[in-house]
Amino acid sequence: MMQIAILGFGVVGSGTAEVLEENKKLIAARCGEEVNVKYILDLREFPEHPLGDRVVHDIKIILNDPEVLLVAEMMGGSHPAYEFTRAALEAGKSVVTSNKEVVSTFGAELLELARANKVSYFFEASVGGGIPIIRPLQTDLASNEILAVSGILNGTTNFILTKMKNEGLDFATVLKEAQVLGYAEANPAADVEGLDAARKTVILAALSFGVLLDPNSIPTEGITGITAEHTAVAEAFGGAVKLIGHTEKIDGKVWAGVSPYLVPASNPVSHVDGVFNGILVDANMLGRALFYGAGAGKLPTASAVVADIIDILSNRANERKSPAWRIATADDVAPADKYVACRCFLIEGCPRCAEKAKAALKTEEVAMLDGKFAIVSAPMTASDADAALSSVGLASLWSLPVLD
Ligand code: HSE
Repeated sequence: MMQIAILGFGVVGSGTAEVLEENKKLIAARCGEEVNVKYILDLREFPEHPLGDRVVHDIKIILNDPEVLLVAEMMGGSHPAYEFTRAALEAGKSVVTSNKEVVSTFGAELLELARANKVSYFFEASVGGGIPIIRPLQTDLASNEILAVSGILNGTTNFILTKMKNEGLDFATVLKEAQVLGYAEANPAADVEGLDAARKTVILAALSFGVLLDPNSIPTEGITGITAEHTAVAEAFGGAVKLIGHTEKIDGKVWAGVSPYLVPASNPVSHVDGVFNGILVDANMLGRALFYGAGAGKLPTASAVVADIIDILSNRANERKSPAWRIATADDVAPADKYVACRCFLIEGCPRCAEKAKAALKTEEVAMLDGKFAIVSAPMTASDADAALSSVGLASLWSLPVLD
């Protein structure tokens, strides 16, 4: 029997125990031995839970038990999750996690520590919940150069934007409903202001380009400013507003950012609705691939945690090399304003102004609205587009980049 410990018995932690129990036989067959949860570390007691007798409150009990081969960290937050992960790796135990905050902040150091201690640090559940995306980028796409990764990385905000679109509701009303349904947390800032998606974006950038950017420093805009007007403009072009995390290389440097985009109907991501996530990978040999599925939730996320557990426990004889990430220096990072995209502008004005805007933005894509017009530019940087508009005496009320 192979012994493991769970750190944090919240939604994903208890889901991990549930997946291990529900699929016990197939997991044992895949690992070669049964997997047993020997300890659960949590501040709380769970007297009613079948594993309630495994609860401990001191990490040292786990660290000092040589039988524990692997620790599944699902505590959330940076501290003490980071310190406990370090201690487990130093004690020669592999670690799997769903904790995107820790991976996006300390991933480079923890991967190095895992390598030094000849153990593994796996984090499939940290991006896209149950959707396989980390392992495909590391292994299945290894023969490709990754050109760009973009997608819906946050289920809560996608639920809100989908409902705003389908029911014509405003942001505040839908946020309240998302909180009642348990999708959005009481303090929804990390989701609605884009930080959760920024953390996931820097993880995808590191997997694609080998350098770990600071998730707090990439351009990040959430959905709190999105109104029914944005949704109506997107619909006028047959698309939808989606919160998109995007990374690509510009002039050999890494660009990454999060913001609301207009996603045209021709892009499959525009049809990813509700709490689902959809991640597009552009690779130089494969072309474009879409990874779609449950991006959050107890059992989908726990299934990715358990996949990492199986991968490690079934391959103990063959150490799988962890990727080597370098912490990005200023020289690795493409300046925010170098990003080139088509952009959708809403502008006050008459058809004659729209004609001037079309010439300035090198486009024919215009939708006339009530006293305003929406226009989608040719690909250009945000500052070039603003300069082009101002050269014909126009300024926009707002703009959104367009996902191609
Ligand atoms: N708050 C996250 C989301 C949870 O809504 O996507 C999954 O990472």
